[in-house]
Amino acid sequence: MNNQVKFEVEGNVAILTIQNPPVNALGAAVRQGLFDGIEKADGMSSVNAVLIRAAGRTFPAGADVREFGKPRAEPILSQVVGRIEACSKPVVAAVHGNALGGGFEIALGAHYRMASRDAKFGLPEVLLGVLPGAGGTQRVPRLTGAAAALDLMLVGKPIGALQASDLGLVDALVDGDVAKAGFAFAQDLAEKGAGPRRTCDRRDGFSDAESYMAAIAARRLAVAKSPLEAPARIVDCVEAAMLLPFEAGIAKERAAFDDCEGSEGAQALRHAFFAERRAAKVPELEGANLREVNTIGVVGAGTMGTGIAVACLDAGFPVTLVERDEEGLLRGVEKIDAIYQRSLDKGRIDVDTRAARMEALTGTTDMDELAQVDLVIEAVFEEISVKEGVFAQLDAVMKPGAILATNTSYLDINALAATISRPQDVVGYHFFSPANIMKLLEIVVADRTDPDVVATGFALAKRLRKVPVRAGVADGFIGNRILAAYRQAADFMLEDGATPAKIDAAMRDFGFPIGPYQVLDMAGLDISWARRKRLADSRDPAARYVAIGDKLCERGWFGQKAGRGYYIYEDGSRTGVEDPEVLAIIEEERAAKGISPRRFSAREIQHRCLNAMANEGARLLEEAVALRPSDIDVVMFYGYGFPRWRGGPMMAADLRGLLEVENELRSYQIEEPAFWAPSPLFDELVKNGQHFEDLNEG
Ligand code: 3HC
Ligand code: NAI
Repeated sequence: MNNQVKFEVEGNVAILTIQNPPVNALGAAVRQGLFDGIEKADGMSSVNAVLIRAAGRTFPAGADVREFGKPRAEPILSQVVGRIEACSKPVVAAVHGNALGGGFEIALGAHYRMASRDAKFGLPEVLLGVLPGAGGTQRVPRLTGAAAALDLMLVGKPIGALQASDLGLVDALVDGDVAKAGFAFAQDLAEKGAGPRRTCDRRDGFSDAESYMAAIAARRLAVAKSPLEAPARIVDCVEAAMLLPFEAGIAKERAAFDDCEGSEGAQALRHAFFAERRAAKVPELEGANLREVNTIGVVGAGTMGTGIAVACLDAGFPVTLVERDEEGLLRGVEKIDAIYQRSLDKGRIDVDTRAARMEALTGTTDMDELAQVDLVIEAVFEEISVKEGVFAQLDAVMKPGAILATNTSYLDINALAATISRPQDVVGYHFFSPANIMKLLEIVVADRTDPDVVATGFALAKRLRKVPVRAGVADGFIGNRILAAYRQAADFMLEDGATPAKIDAAMRDFGFPIGPYQVLDMAGLDISWARRKRLADSRDPAARYVAIGDKLCERGWFGQKAGRGYYIYEDGSRTGVEDPEVLAIIEEERAAKGISPRRFSAREIQHRCLNAMANEGARLLEEAVALRPSDIDVVMFYGYGFPRWRGGPMMAADLRGLLEVENELRSYQIEEPAFWAPSPLFDELVKNGQHFEDLNEG
């Protein structure tokens, strides 16, 4: 048909093979090839059945997301699926790998579905801010009823072939070669002279109208608060599947899809999808010789060390955990044990898995036990002298070619690497807390880090199921630098007239799960206080300094764990309420500086925080700490709760318009020039009519 869909006839079966690696995405050529292939097969008197299968590792994983937001060449996918379904001869889909989105919809257009036992089926469109747009909302409920269909479409998580078969979505499961089995089945249908069995004519899923409508009502309520349009439109379409004739349902789905596709939320989610894949592409990967990592050591069994150890154990690595003394070690091992106990209690793992994980863990207070490990991740106190001591010990015991990674949050990795004999083996692996859960891993490349060590970090991240982002050495790398700017903007507003509750509410309204002061209270105010004290001597005395946080810490109000911080937590509650004494402290600070408080609208709070983040991001790009704007976005949504559907701070700035962001930054400049001065990158992009997106190569 064309080079993306091969057309063959064997006996009286036409075979259409989709071949568009790596995931057989349904781009224009595939759509045309399928359409033409069905037309041809339908018109050939020697053909009595059709088989659709895919070459390579998977049945189509969906529409080609790169075509979204642009005019689409006909035939569009719903026409292709409609044509398959309309075929006068039986059509069989042989599914292996992931039949996702449009791929699943192609299979639903076929009259019979056979799947290899390990195949997966899913409708993940909602994760891209859209809905199934090629009949999925109309065909799935015809087979499964509303509840299962809505689960698939609203959650977006794929299900296994067995479950799909139980739900009536798959006709037969195959152990061996599904294409071969599919062909045999098609041949059988051809020989029997079977006709089509169209999903659009099926009504199995409508048999219990009452529970169908109850599922609709329940899900409608559940999605009412979603900031995205797609979930509510999915519910409407699935309702329409039962209430309207098939063609009218398809038209309704088409209109909903078009509306959602153009929305800002969908644009941001598409950006996020490509951003996280782009982040994994770094210059060091080219021509890299990966170092072998089979065993891992972790030094420091505190908050981070234990989480990192669990992340490594979960990925199947044997882990040697080193602490200063037996007491610390025992505490660390108990913590890891407790994590696995919780997983067991919640049914996430079984007894054997728990035992195997704990067996793979060796606790010790003897650094010599790290002599043979391939990689050590250091997670001791955030003190350069402590880290230098540990690195000297590691340098003495570790085998040549082993990797020395530090989990430092802020310290200068160049300086640390310079203290040992093998700076080329030193790299930053900056995990986020809790390290066994948070997906982000900043891979910090120091001046002398061997590119192979960087590349090995990216390969390791994949095994640990983390999302790696490359960062250069800077105070706080990417994430903590942006976070510091965010907090600085918030603190200025706090002193100028806002309250913690107002700022937090505004940022929650924007889409953050919790506001910046809630985060501080949760993490503990003492951590950032210690850092501020450490840096006090090097602070520019002319720079504006908001001391409200220090005042709280001086009273021992370290946040949730102390029962007080920016909020008060009564009787161990984890939800804080506004604390009049904190408000009084803020008033005192204002009075001492002669500030007369002013009102901040939620919109201004959001703009100031976001502008500060985007500006700091632009500076990180200028300093080459971040490779590209989308890497900054990935860091922020995987590490700091930035709402993915807003696309991250750089994408959010693009969506608002860089000129507007730059103008606002300029308008605040008079308040604190060093902080608010827009990065020259804004001027450069605006002048060329460009966006941050234009700097996201690849
Ligand atoms: N469109 C375009 N490119 C796609 C794609 C898609 N739907 N799915 C994956 N790719 C690309 C990736 O960008 C990546 O490209 P790169 O190598 O240049 O970076 C490459 O394929 C491999 O992808 P992954 O790195 O993600 O490979 P994995 O093996 O880890 O995962 C997967 C494979 C599970 C299929 C995963 O890629 C995935 O979940 N893809 C998205 C599936 C999806 O959302 N489908 C729905 C699309 S919307 C739709 O179909 C609308 C319809 O209803 C009209
Ligand atoms: P922590 O205080 O909970 O744990 C540090 C552990 O290191 C303690 O158990 C201590 O006994 C041990 N330790 C100290 N010196 C040692 C030595 N010489 N040999 C062996 N063990 C030693 O600290 P936390 O929070 O786990 O932080 C560790 C590192 O991770 C720091 O560099 C920190 O900046 C960084 N980090 C922390 C994050 C967090 O949210 N807590 C997030 C990301 C990074």
